[in-house]
Amino acid sequence: MIEASHWHPVALADALQQAPLAVCLLAHDLVLWRDSTGAVQAFADQCPHRGARLSLGRVADGRLECPYHGWQFTAGGRCVRVPALPAFVPPAAHCARNFEAREARGLVWVRLAQGDLDLPAFAAEDDAELRKLNCGPYDVATSAPRIVENFLDMAHFGFVHEGWLGARNATAIDDYQVAPTPTGIRATGCKAWQPQSSVHATGAAQVEYTYEVTAPYAAVLTKVPEAGRTAVAGWRESIALYVCPLTPETSRVWFRLAVADFESPDAKLQAFQHTIFTQDQPVLESQSPKRLPLDLRAELHTAADKASSAYRRFLQGSGITFGVC
Ligand code: FES
Ligand code: CO
Repeated sequence: MIEASHWHPVALADALQQAPLAVCLLAHDLVLWRDSTGAVQAFADQCPHRGARLSLGRVADGRLECPYHGWQFTAGGRCVRVPALPAFVPPAAHCARNFEAREARGLVWVRLAQGDLDLPAFAAEDDAELRKLNCGPYDVATSAPRIVENFLDMAHFGFVHEGWLGARNATAIDDYQVAPTPTGIRATGCKAWQPQSSVHATGAAQVEYTYEVTAPYAAVLTKVPEAGRTAVAGWRESIALYVCPLTPETSRVWFRLAVADFESPDAKLQAFQHTIFTQDQPVLESQSPKRLPLDLRAELHTAADKASSAYRRFLQGSGITFGVC
């Protein structure tokens, strides 16, 4: 499964404190916990002794303790204590199943298989003139690729986001450019007429979007409104979409916002994104099948959909199998 070698977001970093945290990735139940250095550890959420869920246990002295017989595991998975046999020194093979985990961008990331891939690219992350904050999680009853495809889709703005990102009297999609990239696809020159393009928009504006698929289940959009149409001079923003594929038909979603606004409270910036995504969610959950069809003959396409068609071809060419059909 090629998607196992990609890094996926599994939790907000702040959600992982003293207690172990159960998460799911690619249909694997995992437990996250912090070792004695504060680093994130990710194990299979199944004790190698009798299969109890390690996430029901506790963390003590930099060790994860199973809730059933109290076996203790250190960073990397090694069992170091079997309370029923205090003198027993467990051999190296007494191990919980351990996965690579890291903390970045306010999220915990895990990969299930080794590889040389880095986190999905997000140029705005290193741009000191943009403030970064996260929005989510949202639990969505559909596949990860359906959510990415919706993020690339401008033709729904006048309907799903009427009065916000679009209007019924301005639904035409001008031609735009799509090209494959090493990590997915890039769509440029995407234009939309938007009544309220961001939390700071002072009136309807023509907004130009660039979309980039940065990993099978991640994408970035950058939007620049026409000059003078926001209350913040030089406004531009980048939004990264990060989807955790929980099961083939359920997902957990975060947005990482990068905005030229260091004044507004987090809640105000998050509220706009929240409004937009909760407009998307019921339509997303209504789509059938929930898995994204990669056979282009399975659904109908027009020239306005060429970004999503290119995304489907990219997934097909990558050998992605989770969340597609
Ligand atoms: Fe975990 Fe026995 S099942 S210690
Ligand atoms: Co939408």
